[in-house]
Amino acid sequence: MAGTSPAVTMEKPWGLGMTEPMKILTICGSLRKGSYNAALARMAPKLAPAGMTFSDAPSFAQMPIYNHDDQEASGFPPTVTAWADAIRAADGLLIVTPEYNWSIPGGLKNAIDWASRLKNQPFAGKPAAVQSAAGGLLGGARAQYQLRQSLTSVDVLWFGRPEVIVSFAPQKFDAATLELKDQGAIDMVKAQLAGFEKFIRMVKGK
Ligand SMILES: Cc1cc2nc3c(=O)[nH]c(=O)nc-3n(C[C@H](O)[C@H](O)[C@H](O)COP(=O)(O)O)c2cc1C
Repeated sequence: MAGTSPAVTMEKPWGLGMTEPMKILTICGSLRKGSYNAALARMAPKLAPAGMTFSDAPSFAQMPIYNHDDQEASGFPPTVTAWADAIRAADGLLIVTPEYNWSIPGGLKNAIDWASRLKNQPFAGKPAAVQSAAGGLLGGARAQYQLRQSLTSVDVLWFGRPEVIVSFAPQKFDAATLELKDQGAIDMVKAQLAGFEKFIRMVKGK
């Protein structure tokens, strides 16, 4: 309109301002009730910078084993689309997983394989950080590196370090409450989440 300045309605390309809460989706690779990795994931809200919020991804437990014939015949199961929608809606992913036989647990890998076949790729450009807890000396590190390799194929943007690798897990969690009690591990989680928050703001241009 002549004589009036036009309203500026520039859309924010990434929709995340400095003060807006950051929605992190937590994906746990273990289905076990007393899981140390689930317990580690539950620590995140307590140890993260203010403004980072966490919600659990829908379970992948009921996803059928991926078979391209089934996908062609029946499309994507609702368990897969729900998982993918939750990933799309998140500002970032925190994947907390054990290592099974030096690798990614089958259930988690199966979920990734299903989601990787979707158009409007849920993982593409999604910032992600990984943590692991395991009974042994290496603390799930091998699964972390295989997960990094696998999800790079669908263009996840990995946060590098600090890494969170909780070795000898039974000694680091309270046996009754499953609260993480090891100060070194707590400090690692705090440092990683602080760095991850900055990383997300950087990749989202804020
Ligand atoms: C099928 C299977 C394979 C495992 N392989 C490994 C392994 O390769 N490396 C390792 O450190 N721990 C291995 N473990 C031990 C896990 O670290 C341990 O069970 C851990 O508590 C699993 O994580 P969760 O407590 O979150 O379920 C394995 C456990 C299972 C059940």
